[in-house]
Amino acid sequence: MESNFKRTLITTALPYANGPVHIGHLAGVYVPADIYARYLRLQGREVTMVGGSDEHGVPITIKARNEGVTPQDIVDRYHKIIKDSFEELGISFDVYSRTTSDIHRATASEFFSRLHGKGEFIEKTSMQLYDEKANQFLADRYVTGECPHCHNQRAYGDQCEACGTSLNATDLINPKSAITGETPVLRETHHWFLPLDRWESRLREWILEGHKEWKGNVYGQCKSWLDLGLQPRAVTRDLDWGVPVPLNEAAGKVLYVWFDAPIGYISNTKEIYPDSWEKWWKDPETRIINFIGKDNIVFHCIVFPAMLMAYGDNYQLPDNVPANEFLNLEGDKISTSRNWAVWLHEYLRDFPGKQDVLRYVLTANAPETKDNDFTWRDFQTRNNSELVAILGNFVNRVIVLTHKYFDGVVPAAGQLTEVDTALFEEVASLKDSLTQNIETFHFREALKEAMNIARAGNKYLQETEPWKVAKTDMARVATILNTALQICGDIAVAFEPFMPFMSRRLADALHMGKLTWEELGACDIIKAGEHIDSPELLFEKIDDEAIDAQIERLARIKRENELKNFKPAEVQAPTDFETFSKLDIRVGTVINCEKVKKSKKLLRFLIDDGIGQRTILSGIAEHYEPECLIGRQVCFIANFPPRQMMGIESEGMILSALNADGSLSVIAPTSAVVNGAQVK
Ligand code: 2FM
Ligand code: ZN
Repeated sequence: MESNFKRTLITTALPYANGPVHIGHLAGVYVPADIYARYLRLQGREVTMVGGSDEHGVPITIKARNEGVTPQDIVDRYHKIIKDSFEELGISFDVYSRTTSDIHRATASEFFSRLHGKGEFIEKTSMQLYDEKANQFLADRYVTGECPHCHNQRAYGDQCEACGTSLNATDLINPKSAITGETPVLRETHHWFLPLDRWESRLREWILEGHKEWKGNVYGQCKSWLDLGLQPRAVTRDLDWGVPVPLNEAAGKVLYVWFDAPIGYISNTKEIYPDSWEKWWKDPETRIINFIGKDNIVFHCIVFPAMLMAYGDNYQLPDNVPANEFLNLEGDKISTSRNWAVWLHEYLRDFPGKQDVLRYVLTANAPETKDNDFTWRDFQTRNNSELVAILGNFVNRVIVLTHKYFDGVVPAAGQLTEVDTALFEEVASLKDSLTQNIETFHFREALKEAMNIARAGNKYLQETEPWKVAKTDMARVATILNTALQICGDIAVAFEPFMPFMSRRLADALHMGKLTWEELGACDIIKAGEHIDSPELLFEKIDDEAIDAQIERLARIKRENELKNFKPAEVQAPTDFETFSKLDIRVGTVINCEKVKKSKKLLRFLIDDGIGQRTILSGIAEHYEPECLIGRQVCFIANFPPRQMMGIESEGMILSALNADGSLSVIAPTSAVVNGAQVK
């Protein structure tokens, strides 16, 4: 593919170092960026991929306060977890750094100073909410209160999630600090703002005219921001954690985290290329691609480009920002605070050696054009029915047959027949479409095409049946296996961007050395006469037990969250003892308990009530195995009139407590009492 640029700089959104990374981050940003970087390297193009942890911002200070440690402790902890887990997953950063590095602080500080020196900021004094107990100004998100529009009591200072209105923290009725719960006061403060409105027409032209090829979701979001009209944005904050504002009159203020974070891409490039970093940022022949999630679009397409334009000095704007949508988990939005996530470091611990499986599933399900869902069952199916049954099976069959008929030496091909050339033609066309899809950031489609190479290989073996031909024509078997081995070589190359670990194992077994995109589809990618090894199976089945354990973990988290969010019902209107004492509540022992036929909910109890036996129906079948209740004591209302249910007469009601998750738990005395005892 022809291209008029010399080199590509790939940037990946810097994850906040206030928690580990999860599958949503991976599917949205890091796996696609890595696919692209690896592909360009196979193409022999000059490429650098930069990443690092975003270590500033209010949430990190709050987490530190809650844990009684310093913000530095928090970011040290998570930076290490994030960096190590990325490395283990094979995300091939050329540098993975952090925004607390000296080089970054110096770069961000200089960036601000230059803009300040050029008169690119405006200054404003305003009143903001201040928490006197925490001694700090409150970011809008950290104020809650009553929404002035819909009167929802739990609106945030930046938005009411009940009615969707965006708010300023000072709009809230009865505001409270989310840090201490105190009522904040208004205090005057002074900040520096980047007037985005000054850049509006250049941004419009650059994006709306110049980048119509951007993904629809990205272009559309930019267009609606631009159509609304841009406003000045504060780039400083009153906080003691961040890059200090390099002005004497700004003591106690730091750069806003979204001002310094994207500059991190520049600092990280400087870190690897102290002498030649400028060519990656200022040479028009460099192409910059920002991989991000959809919540970062405005910062990368509007705010950071405006900062770069304001800086001048030939800084280049991104050529493309292929932002992804979100990945959900088992139907629910991934959430760090609710622990509703599959954490990368935990995945690597629970599924050792299965990095490629996760990379494969996240790409096959990538939220490229709409939000998508990750489920553990789908993960298992894709592994067992695609990786094992299609890809692994093909490669394994070819290698086993080569060992069986040719002692593991690649046989020379004779005259190719129509079926052989048809296979090479099919691979050539798959390569075209694979290349085209990767070049245009359609990694899901690209992965499908790579998988189609393995499918074509399986079909070829099915059609040529070398195990049958071996009875009569070994020369033909040699041609068939030579051809099939070329497809194995193609698989090693085509999948390298997606599943680098499998690719390396296969390439090593086939003695391929350094892989190149160019050789994909060639008739002699694997040389005749070469001895090939028998690799261990490339993929193995994942059994139900491993998947059930993950599903059970999520169910447990869901229960814990329900408990955390449980709010007891309002206490009912007052009543008196006389009313209570009209209810005759007694203790009895369960003599028998069984499911009521054709009913999902009802259990039929036979109770020894001290006087005789009575039948009571209770709607707790979804919460108990009936056998478990036999012999136990329960409390029941003895003086309800009998009532017919499912053709059975029920003589009372068994008492249960309603749990946060909707489950029911029967009420029993803490020690055995005589049957018929009254509850007072
Ligand atoms: O949304 C986030 O997780 C931010 N930490 C991304 C920053 S991207 C860049 F600008 F550094
Ligand atoms: Zn509201």
